[in-house]
Amino acid sequence: MRYLPIFLDVRDTSCLVIGGGEVAARKANLLLESDARVTVVAPELGPTLTRMATNNQVEHISAHFAIPHLDGRRLVIAATDDAAVNALIADHARALNLPVNVADQPAAGDFIVPSVIDRSPVVIAVSSSGASPVLARLLRARLESLIPSAYGNLGQLIEKFRERVKMRLPTAARRRFWDQVLQGNVAEMVFAGNNAAAERSLEQAINDAGDDDTRAGEVYLVGAGPGDPDLLTFRALRLLQQADVVLYDRLVSPQILAMVRKGADKIYVGKQKADHAVPQEQINSLLLKLALEGKRVLRLKGGDPFIFGRGGEEIEDLMAHGIDFQVVPGITAAAGCAAYSGIPLTHRDYSQACIFVTGHLKSGSIDLNWAQLCQPNQTVVVYMGLTGLATLCSEMIRHGASEDMPVALIEKGTTAEQRVFTGTLSNLPERIANEDVSAPTLIIVGEVVRLRDGLNWYKRPLKEANNP
Ligand SMILES: C[S@@+](CC[C@H](N)C(=O)[O-])C[C@H]1O[C@@H](n2cnc3c(N)ncnc32)[C@H](O)[C@@H]1O
Repeated sequence: MRYLPIFLDVRDTSCLVIGGGEVAARKANLLLESDARVTVVAPELGPTLTRMATNNQVEHISAHFAIPHLDGRRLVIAATDDAAVNALIADHARALNLPVNVADQPAAGDFIVPSVIDRSPVVIAVSSSGASPVLARLLRARLESLIPSAYGNLGQLIEKFRERVKMRLPTAARRRFWDQVLQGNVAEMVFAGNNAAAERSLEQAINDAGDDDTRAGEVYLVGAGPGDPDLLTFRALRLLQQADVVLYDRLVSPQILAMVRKGADKIYVGKQKADHAVPQEQINSLLLKLALEGKRVLRLKGGDPFIFGRGGEEIEDLMAHGIDFQVVPGITAAAGCAAYSGIPLTHRDYSQACIFVTGHLKSGSIDLNWAQLCQPNQTVVVYMGLTGLATLCSEMIRHGASEDMPVALIEKGTTAEQRVFTGTLSNLPERIANEDVSAPTLIIVGEVVRLRDGLNWYKRPLKEANNP
């Protein structure tokens, strides 16, 4: 992040705006909305600032900027139409340790003024770090339409009862309580404009709270998808935002981890192939222990938790101890890699079935039903098959598959680093030998691989995609 986002209390402090035009008027207006006292320095004022000065909303000093104007100010905004004057103002403000913003020249000042969505007490500030104010405004417009204005009323209601809830409930129970309020009927009543009923319902909820403080937590077994954070489900995102602790795997991307609620504990329990960092039994008992402590535990796994993910084992212990849990499916690597490499897993003409297998090598061999894998008109997707690729190809040929059967190997599918290698059962191992391929990789075997020539879309320049 180039800038530190903070919300500054300027209530009843003296802030200086230099400039008389419309940009200066917008900045002055924002300061007034934050209850600052605003002085405007400019030889002449445009229509908006003239009106504000006439209404005594701002004090007007009719002059060119001079250093004494900075005396006793909380912050300064330089908004003249002369870049050199703005730079000079910034220098003088800095010499006095006054935070200064230079309108339309973010680099010349110390802070930038974000686009604001005001649902006071809830305020959302959007910034592009000065890179594109237009983009920030566009995002603001989107958020404006997504966030009902009643969120302001909801914020006020919570503010009113916050201390009472704090006195009544310990931290973890408190967070759960507010989650329920914000996602339950109290919020719905506020959104429907029924504030009095919402307040009564909240009072009742506070009176009833605390009766079940000793209850165990719950576990969410969540699929994080194959890598691209956009492939996360809405439910996964919501649960990431409300978990107390997140246990995550090696395959979960940093962008997805960044969506975990700030303040939640993140515990890495990833397993390397050769080095079982945290044994499965230990993960199972950690999940149970945390849930018994009353926490909301989110177990985040790459892809889908029930596909080569040992997700079933992880919830068996929870079942046995009566812990509440839910399973949130994720996009499995096969679906993600196939889509992002332009290889449909089934096709009316080439493949009427699709088999998912693990290509994990055990003592140099792979234990699979080869006869079944070599049937015609089907697609075979191999997870964890990179080390065993040569064995996989030779065994399939030995069991009757054509040497020319197309094969694709997708490395880090759906991410910005995705690479796709294609070949046949007889030549793919050799083709990738010097490519420094690293896990995770997925192998797709079948005639459908040929379709990639026409359907490959990911990371293709737009022009080329439009005029193939
Ligand atoms: C332990 S399995 C977990 C599979 C996961 N539960 C799923 O549904 O995708 C790990 C294997 O999934 C495959 N995999 C996961 N993410 C991948 C990705 N982004 N690109 C290619 N393969 C991936 C690789 O074969 C990797 O070795």
